[in-house]
Amino acid sequence: MHWDADLRLIVQALRDSGSIAEAVPWDAEAVAWDRFDLVVIRSAWDYAERIGEFLAWAETTARLTRLRNPATVVCWNSDKRYLLDLAKQGVAVVPTLFIEPGTQPIRGDFERIGGVVVKPAISAGAVDTARYEPHQSADAMQHAEMLLGQGRVVMVQPYLRLVEEGERALVFVSGTFSHAIRKGPVLTEPGVLDNDRVPHPDVARYTPTAEEVATAQTALAAVPSLDPPLFARVDLVLDDNRIPTVMELELIEPNLFLVDNPRGLERLAGSVFAEAREAAS
Ligand SMILES: Nc1ncnc2c1ncn2[C@@H]1O[C@H](COP(=O)(O)OP(=O)(O)O)[C@@H](O)[C@H]1O
Ligand SMILES: [Mg+2]
Repeated sequence: MHWDADLRLIVQALRDSGSIAEAVPWDAEAVAWDRFDLVVIRSAWDYAERIGEFLAWAETTARLTRLRNPATVVCWNSDKRYLLDLAKQGVAVVPTLFIEPGTQPIRGDFERIGGVVVKPAISAGAVDTARYEPHQSADAMQHAEMLLGQGRVVMVQPYLRLVEEGERALVFVSGTFSHAIRKGPVLTEPGVLDNDRVPHPDVARYTPTAEEVATAQTALAAVPSLDPPLFARVDLVLDDNRIPTVMELELIEPNLFLVDNPRGLERLAGSVFAEAREAAS
C-alpha cells in the first residue's frame, strides 16, 4: 500500500491523540471492518478504474461500521453527472455536455464550444482527459468516441482558459472552511492524451475570496446527506467572466494538502476522533 503524505500525517495525528489508527487497503482480503468504530476512506486512488467493486465495498462496509464519507455520498460523488444536481441548485458549474454510450457525438456541438476538454464522467487524476483547440475538433470527437466505445459516459466542456491563473482547491472539514491551495493547469498541451500527467502541479498556499468560499459552500449544501461531509474539497476555476465556477467536488479520496496546513490537519484529526467516539458510544 502506498502511504501518501496526507495519510502519514493523519494516522500520526490520530495516534498522538490516543486513538488506535490503522491504514488498511480497501480491497484487502478478510478484513473485519466491524472491529473499527469508524472507517475513513483515504488515498483509494484506484477507485475510478474499479468503480463497481469499490461502490459495492462501500455499501457493504457502511452496513458494518460508520463509513466516511457515507456510501450514498461516495456513490453520488463518483460520477461527475452530480454537476447537473449542483446546477439545478443554482451553483455555477463548468457548462457540460454529457454524451451517453450508444449515442453518436455531434461534430457541430464540439465546433460550437470551440476549445474543449473531453473527459470521462467517472475518473480521477486527469486520466483519459485532454483538451483540444477549436481546429482539433475531429481529434476531440475521436477521443469521445474512444471513451463511448468503452461504455463510458463522456463529458465535453469549454476549456476554461483562466485555469492557467490557477485552479483553487478549498478544503472543508465537517462543513467548515479550513484551508485552500492553488494549483497550475494540468492540461498544458492541447491535442495530447497523456495519462502520466501530474494531477496537482505547482501547488501554493492560497487565500480564497469571499465569493469563492460562498460558491464552495453552496456546492456543499447540495450534497445529498443530512450531515456535512467529514471532509470535502471543492475545486474552482474562474470562468471567462471571472466567476468562480465548480470544476469538481471531491468527497471520496481527495488530496487535502495537509502538509503545509497543520491547522487543517488538526481540524481533520479532531473531527475523525469526535466521529469515532460518537460511533463507539
Ligand atoms: N473545462 C476545463 N477547463 C480547463 N481545464 C480543465 C477543464 N476540465 C479539466 N481541466 C483540467 O484537467 C484537470 C482534471 O480534470 P477534473 O475535472 O478535475 O477531473 P479529475 O481531477 O477528477 O481527473 C483539472 O484539474 C484541470 O487542470
Ligand atoms: Mg480534479
